[in-house]
Amino acid sequence: MRRLRSEPWIRQLVAEHSLNSSDLILPLFLREDSSVASEIPNLDGVTRLTPDQTLATATQAESLGIPAVALFPWVAEADKDTNCTLALNPDNLVCRTVRALKQANPNLGVICDVALDPYNAHGHDGLVSADGTILNDETLALLAQQALTLAEAGADIVAPSDMMDGRVLAIRSALEGAGHKDTKILSYAAKYASVFYGPFREAVNSQGNLKGALQSDKRTYQMNPANSDEALREVALDLAEGADLVMVKPCGPYLDIIHRVKETFRVPTFAYQVSGEYAMLRSAANAGAFPWQSALLESLRAAKRAGADAILTYGALDAAQALSAT
Ligand code: PBG
Repeated sequence: MRRLRSEPWIRQLVAEHSLNSSDLILPLFLREDSSVASEIPNLDGVTRLTPDQTLATATQAESLGIPAVALFPWVAEADKDTNCTLALNPDNLVCRTVRALKQANPNLGVICDVALDPYNAHGHDGLVSADGTILNDETLALLAQQALTLAEAGADIVAPSDMMDGRVLAIRSALEGAGHKDTKILSYAAKYASVFYGPFREAVNSQGNLKGALQSDKRTYQMNPANSDEALREVALDLAEGADLVMVKPCGPYLDIIHRVKETFRVPTFAYQVSGEYAMLRSAANAGAFPWQSALLESLRAAKRAGADAILTYGALDAAQALSAT
């Protein structure tokens, strides 16, 4: 076996999978202005961006060959309410950013999360009843409206990350009804109730609320990490409801799920290397356990090998830079 590993050129020729900057999606954390801190606890190297910084970072991503960015807003407590009013406001931070990005970088794909967690005081992805239940069908109408608001602002892809049942159909119907036939739906189809979302919730200011909520975790709607067949049922439903692309999340601890989804459905399958995965790799690298870039690239290659077509990663810029240097 070692004959085919003897030099870099032969290793390249026999490589079964490749990782390119065109496989990467860069998530961006948005802030209104510099009155909101840029640093995010545990996400060394990732910052919340003002509108100007967002445009500059998007331009950098595009020039490194990254095809798309995904947007996540920091929302002040004062702007949150139980009906998630701001989510439907065409002048909210995300919608303004989409318009600015599409004007400045028309060839860069823009992906927007559809979920209510940034916009209510409890940090849940759906509406919450007085007894703490996360309401499914009542939430669907809002999600459809939110998706429509984002599509109207110019989002290329809407990405429901809420895990309510039936949301893809509700969103697809709303988009079709309003003539948005080309807006793509990237469904967070197999999204697990994972502890690895911790740093993200700090980044978007939704964690404190979740801690105090009647339901302090998302286990009544996100998937049980013990399950794998259930992921296939989730993906089958979302495809039947009109999803164009599906996502598995988190990535590294769920490579088996990526593999099963890809093998079963042969549809575009994205993976989300989430905040906690980035934090683990980054802090171990900072502590001297291994070189950062190599660890990042290896983790992303593993996702490609498992079957991911594209990967959302907070390390997209670093990875693209490292790939262009080799
Ligand atoms: C919100 C959402 C979450 C993430 C993406 N969209 C958090 C959650 O479901 O609580 C997590 C991303 C990450 O951890 O990097 N619907």
